[in-house]
Amino acid sequence: MKFFIDTANLAQIKEAQALGILDGVTTNPSLMAKEGITGQSNIFQHYLDICEEVEGDVSAEVIATDFEGMVAEGEKLASLHPRIVVKLPMIKNGVKACSYFSAKGIRTNVTLVFSVGQALLAAKSGATYVSPFLGRLDDISTDGMHLISEIRKVYDNFNFETQILSASVRNTMHIINCAKIGSDVITGPLSAIEGLLNHPLTDNGLKQFLKDYAKGNNLHSELQ
Ligand code: G3P
Repeated sequence: MKFFIDTANLAQIKEAQALGILDGVTTNPSLMAKEGITGQSNIFQHYLDICEEVEGDVSAEVIATDFEGMVAEGEKLASLHPRIVVKLPMIKNGVKACSYFSAKGIRTNVTLVFSVGQALLAAKSGATYVSPFLGRLDDISTDGMHLISEIRKVYDNFNFETQILSASVRNTMHIINCAKIGSDVITGPLSAIEGLLNHPLTDNGLKQFLKDYAKGNNLHSELQ
């Protein structure tokens, strides 16, 4: 399973990259705004800065919602860097634009997906990635993980090549359950990824090892 980080924060991207486990980055207009990146030229430059930091795919979302606008913006984004993936919202024009980009060999990520039907349309339009938002479904008392498993089933039935990019991942259990279900990719905050590190027995065990090492070394120096 690939690990993407869901942020436009360069420091966090660098931190995840330094772990050697990062496969890509996803962003969206809200994440860009959170970092104070505004204006098209600054936003485009920021995508390039992100591409400098990671070796994997970087999703860059279009703002236009009309077909012509989506195509024009998506083409500009795709031309910025070969690893940029054009992110399109799951609306009628988004599906149309996704089919257009697929025919041209431009890679896409269809976002804001909340149902199996939407995921089916994303796959039919040749999306490289589909982004079901599991945390936001959990927020409204709907089982987000169930959606991921349903999409997995449908995609496997027909060998769709579209990769399931589980998004709106908020915590470590989301990541673990996505791995069990067979999500191709997860994207989440650094905190959720780093949360996988934690176990009290690891901390206690290491503390004891270091204590015993220190004892042994004191003993050794006393004997000399
Ligand atoms: O990748 C989608 C993501 O940015 C949404 O996450 O936590 O705002 O639901 P969240």
